[in-house]
Amino acid sequence: LKIIGCNWKMNGSLDLLQKIAHITQKPYDDKNFEVIILPSYPFLSGFYRDFPKYVKLGAQDFYKQKNGAFTGEVSLEILKNLSCEYVLVGHSERRIHFQENNQTINAKLKNCLEEKIKPILCIGESIDHYQSGQTKNFLEQQVTQNLADIEDAQIVIAYEPIWSIGTGVTPSINEIQNIYDFLKDIAPANSKIIYGGSVNSSNFKDFIQIADGVLMGGSSIDIAEITKIYSSLQ
Ligand code: 13P
Repeated sequence: LKIIGCNWKMNGSLDLLQKIAHITQKPYDDKNFEVIILPSYPFLSGFYRDFPKYVKLGAQDFYKQKNGAFTGEVSLEILKNLSCEYVLVGHSERRIHFQENNQTINAKLKNCLEEKIKPILCIGESIDHYQSGQTKNFLEQQVTQNLADIEDAQIVIAYEPIWSIGTGVTPSINEIQNIYDFLKDIAPANSKIIYGGSVNSSNFKDFIQIADGVLMGGSSIDIAEITKIYSSLQ
């Protein structure tokens, strides 16, 4: 199954939710694709009222404790109660703006595996690492540290070069193929490797031919874009 992940980030509204729910009423080819919508927390609870069951739900983050006096936080227990199957871990925006480091992310991955919710681990190099030819070294370090003491878990790894997020610039097909092969070699055997960074309706077919799916930001909240992408899955 190829993953089509839709990370809404800190965007969206009830209006957008309903419009996108409407687009997804027509079933897609679920033998080949798995569509996962990852809206911000407030939209999780009403999700299955509006969306058909074959569209999967994910969250963008969580707090490690199961429950208790942690005002403002959301646990995996709560996410599972809302039928979330997936959760993002280590998105570059969390690493950059919320100081999540490789150790925090390793602990979060272990929480996910304990709680049996599927993590989508995000990794990716900065423009400086890319330009100085350090991409593979950097990714290997992230994978090794993020997955320390985690051996044969089924993990989805989203390769999202930071310089490609929200910029309209993507690596070439050859570069993505090269990184895909590299990550397949160093990641746990059952991992899926997906690509994220400026994926849109014109380029997503190229990426899903190489990778095990895509993770979209901007295009996933753009009605015209998501209509085109969704209808091509049918
Ligand atoms: P864009 O698709 O907006 O570049 O964002 C990618 C991303 O960060 C998905 O998690």
